[in-house]
Amino acid sequence: MDEIELQNKKINILFVDDEQNILDGIKRLLRDKKDKWNLEFFTDAELAKEKIFESNYDIVVSDVKMPGINGLQLLEKVKLHLNEKSPEFIMITGVNDKELKHCALNLDATDLLNKPIQREDLLARLNNAIRLKSFKDEICTQNIMLEQQLIQSQKMEVIGLMTSGVAHDFNNILTVISNYNQLLEMLGQDNPAIKARTEKIQTASGHGQKIIQQILNFVKKKDTTFEKVSLNGLIAESVDLLKITLSKKIDINYSLPEDSLFIMADYTQVFQIIMNLCLNAAKAMNNDGRINISLLNNQIEPDLSTAKSWTLLEVSDNGPGMDEEFMKRIINNMSSIKRSQEGTGLGLSIVQKIIKNHSGSLIISSNPGNGTTFKIFFPLHQN
Ligand SMILES: Nc1ncnc2c1ncn2[C@@H]1O[C@H](COP(=O)(O)OP(=O)(O)OP(=O)(O)O)[C@@H](O)[C@H]1O
Ligand SMILES: [Mg+2]
Repeated sequence: MDEIELQNKKINILFVDDEQNILDGIKRLLRDKKDKWNLEFFTDAELAKEKIFESNYDIVVSDVKMPGINGLQLLEKVKLHLNEKSPEFIMITGVNDKELKHCALNLDATDLLNKPIQREDLLARLNNAIRLKSFKDEICTQNIMLEQQLIQSQKMEVIGLMTSGVAHDFNNILTVISNYNQLLEMLGQDNPAIKARTEKIQTASGHGQKIIQQILNFVKKKDTTFEKVSLNGLIAESVDLLKITLSKKIDINYSLPEDSLFIMADYTQVFQIIMNLCLNAAKAMNNDGRINISLLNNQIEPDLSTAKSWTLLEVSDNGPGMDEEFMKRIINNMSSIKRSQEGTGLGLSIVQKIIKNHSGSLIISSNPGNGTTFKIFFPLHQN
């Protein structure tokens, strides 16, 4: 039978039976499992209970009839105390202990093991319990993650509201500046020195208004709407916004093909991809390094051998990179993963989801010390 693993860690199993010779027998039966399983044996049920409460066992195999606290009481106390973190319980009973068996199962024991204990029987039941425990642990992790995501998205909603409020006020302020500036321009019509300055003010406030509009568009939009989007325009616009968002020590550049490349996309979501990737790169580089965005036409997507034409959007940095193990986790695992304490570890899984929604695909290439490149393929929109 295949070995089952619990999130790549050694499996911890506690055995408790007041008869030392039973424990010795089990020890002998499981001699060849010592590398994969961490086995601990107790003859004192009270002591075993304490160990279960303070440690993190995956499985407990317990006799029923023991002096002091018996197996059923032990099971009941542990389930009550540890809830969903409780280990799986396998109760050792005699073949004919029908009453005890019913009691154990009613108290949420995972399985029963008949005396005398046979190796095949023991292994099968332990493997089943490990499988169940692994499944429950996974669900527990998923729940924690979903909870974090919920909190995060609620926070984003608040930030969105605040941002649009602030952006709205700034927009009004800029309108006032712009109006007075136009007045000044009229008053100073014959003065070239004033004219040159008012033109500068006009350009700067126009630029400010454009940025505010971009922020408002980004924050406001909720529903996905696919339209024909020029990636050239989108990249230029996101870099505009990134230049004011990122540290001045980040050198961010882009190169675009002469003719605009179009895709069918939700503008805001693709914008979000670029934002996420660049913010990640900046964070990984400690706000000091280079980011390049490039757009290429007619690339072949290696994984999909369709005749479609693809555009290739590449975001690369010269930061610390990632090792293969870490990248595999990012690619295979849509769930949250992060190394830093900041952030929620959601950015890349959202990026992957958006790419998938756009029938695109993603290739990450990276080496520790040699930077990271994200290659995103989108189906080209043919005119
Ligand atoms: N360009 C990069 N270079 C090096 N490591 C990176 C790069 N991009 C992402 N990573 C690593 O991948 C992890 C996951 O990124 P992700 O965007 O999913 O989460 P986060 O940035 O930690 O949090 P969030 O984006 O939700 O605020 C990052 O914490 C970082 O360790
Ligand atoms: Mg991120």
